[in-house]
Amino acid sequence: MPSFEDQATNRRRFLQFLAGSPLWVAGGFSAFAGDGPTPGVKLPDPLMWAPLKTEDLIKSPKDAINVFDFEPVMRAKVPPAHFGYMASGVDDEVTLRRNREDFLKFVLRPRRLVDVSKVDMSVDILGAKYDSPIVVAPIGGQKAFHEEGEIATARGAKAGNHLQILSTATTSSPEDVTAARGAPIWYQLYATNKWDVAKAFVTRAEKAGCPVVAVTIDRNGGRNQETLLRLRPTDTRDCNACHDRSSLQTTLARRSMYQGVDISGLTNTQSSNMTWDFMKRLRDTTKMKIVLKGILAHEDAVLAADAGMDGIIVSNHGARSEDSGRSTIDALPEIVEAVKGRMPILVDSGFRRGSDIVKALCMGATAVCVGRPYAWGLGAFGQPGVERVLELLRIETRAMMQQVGAPNIKALVPGMVRRV
Ligand SMILES: Cc1cc2nc3c(=O)[nH]c(=O)nc-3n(C[C@H](O)[C@H](O)[C@H](O)COP(=O)(O)O)c2cc1C
Repeated sequence: MPSFEDQATNRRRFLQFLAGSPLWVAGGFSAFAGDGPTPGVKLPDPLMWAPLKTEDLIKSPKDAINVFDFEPVMRAKVPPAHFGYMASGVDDEVTLRRNREDFLKFVLRPRRLVDVSKVDMSVDILGAKYDSPIVVAPIGGQKAFHEEGEIATARGAKAGNHLQILSTATTSSPEDVTAARGAPIWYQLYATNKWDVAKAFVTRAEKAGCPVVAVTIDRNGGRNQETLLRLRPTDTRDCNACHDRSSLQTTLARRSMYQGVDISGLTNTQSSNMTWDFMKRLRDTTKMKIVLKGILAHEDAVLAADAGMDGIIVSNHGARSEDSGRSTIDALPEIVEAVKGRMPILVDSGFRRGSDIVKALCMGATAVCVGRPYAWGLGAFGQPGVERVLELLRIETRAMMQQVGAPNIKALVPGMVRRV
């Protein structure tokens, strides 16, 4: 009989092997989502008697037991280059794994004998009420995953009354997405290197009824998306047949937000020259509330509050901007402490389970945004997939709230979570 230590060492080695394997990021082994035992490999500890088998794909959204069930279906249905764009982190993808693994640094402290027969998950986010604190994060180019793109996502979000944030890189118009959502959505801004372009985007979004602009501040330079770069050449189709990449201008011409906007002289869709002065200028330009997306340090959170920002999103862009190794669940507590309730704090990157969401809410987050999981649902089944992903997250969140003894979101308090 191998000793407990031997078993633990073997398991650790196995996990290290998985972590280094391209399968890990390519969807075969999402962090924490188990897989069936491989011949010649020791069974994991604890044993999983109902192992997931990536070849046993779910046939319909209702078959899904958790959000991970959608990822291999998306991988089977979506072109490898598009799947790679979705899945990719940066460089060694340390941050990508940390975004999952760092949830293990925190445990919940369930309280008992509280009446949780009714659970109210509703939240107020900057003046609007939603049925749950689960927010649909902005993801660009959603028609790369499903022909209905952001419209399907909007309908899925509407079914559960979720806040939806629409990307500047949207492949559907903000007017159509707002109509499909049936309620105001937030607009995410990539400001580009030209003020007039940013101004045109913001003016249009405001006219479309968006009450909030979420300015993304964490995409300032190049990035080495290795998973994308490795998967793209496996795509047998001619990418140029759909994408005219001869210049930035031709690439952007298909994007809804850029239509009718003078993009001559544009050299970048991001804005490496952006400083706090940009926020002052933005404040004078729009009546929309301003939220900064991409905060990771408490110093910046305080600067944001001092600058009169209406909120922040603690985010590392789903580990798609840099490989700093900083997870958001690790960054959140210091930021909450520094902000002292001066503005709402949303958080994203790596949230896949109700327990992840509840941990962040206990720490003081107002809401949690989710990215890839709904993209998996979209790529796998379109709107019904998005709807089911969000439903599963709500089901797990509600169950976790009952288990920790919280009948409503306000009852989730710091004493219910502990760093181990
Ligand atoms: C395929 C993809 C495209 C994204 N596009 C954008 C975007 O256009 N603007 C933006 O601010 N964030 C974008 N993000 C980041 C998400 O808004 C969010 O921060 C991230 O996905 C959260 O991490 P998660 O995917 O682990 O849930 C994108 C993420 C993915 C996966």
